[in-house]
Amino acid sequence: MNDIIITIDGYSACGKSTLAKQLAKELGYIYVDSGAMYRAITLYFLRHHIDWTNAASVHTALQSIVIEFQFNEQAQQSEIFLNGENVEYVIRDLVIAEKVSEVATLKEVRSFAVAQQQKIGEKKGIVMDGRDIGTTVFPDAVLKIFMTADITVRVERRFVELFNKNPNITIEDVKSNLEMRDYIDSNREISPLRKADDAIELDNTFLSIEQQLALTLKLAKEKLTQPD
Ligand code: DC
Repeated sequence: MNDIIITIDGYSACGKSTLAKQLAKELGYIYVDSGAMYRAITLYFLRHHIDWTNAASVHTALQSIVIEFQFNEQAQQSEIFLNGENVEYVIRDLVIAEKVSEVATLKEVRSFAVAQQQKIGEKKGIVMDGRDIGTTVFPDAVLKIFMTADITVRVERRFVELFNKNPNITIEDVKSNLEMRDYIDSNREISPLRKADDAIELDNTFLSIEQQLALTLKLAKEKLTQPD
């Protein structure tokens, strides 16, 4: 079978990107972090004081935004560029996480991001993670995974990640941010986070990184050996 598209959706801090990166590496596919696009747009809006409650301001701002992904050979990862600047690390800040779900509810922002995601997917051979990838971006994807994990485990994992960069951060900050984002992402009007009917649910609360990779790699290989 030819290259396929693999979608990984799910709640915040479920480990979607960890799995997506590893899966892409094993298959020789390209990993695309769709959440990074919404984060980069949010960074631009914050830096330029864009009033995103005003549709005309959003429309104008989006015309000045160019988002690209480039593979960093040294770090062995794909990194996001906003108007030529590498913003891979700055977009992970809690300041962005506080606002990104709100920005991601906007119709024009979503159309902008989805159009680019679909363009990237034209050549197949990608693993893309996000919230609406299996439902809206690639409804015909061959393999769709929907990830979940217990909130306590998710908070711990994300806390460790953020604390290394900012020792002032508390468990409560991280928990309330994850809960707020899950709520907004699941309840927004356009493309809310939900499991596609044909997605396979993967609860990784009690799974190691190696176990979840082995499970999903098996699923991908099954799909790849099925006749077209
Ligand atoms: O995956 P992430 O945590 O970096 O995503 C950041 C936010 O972007 C998330 O809270 C909701 C939004 N998002 C989205 O609406 N649709 C996607 N496909 C990916 C992310």
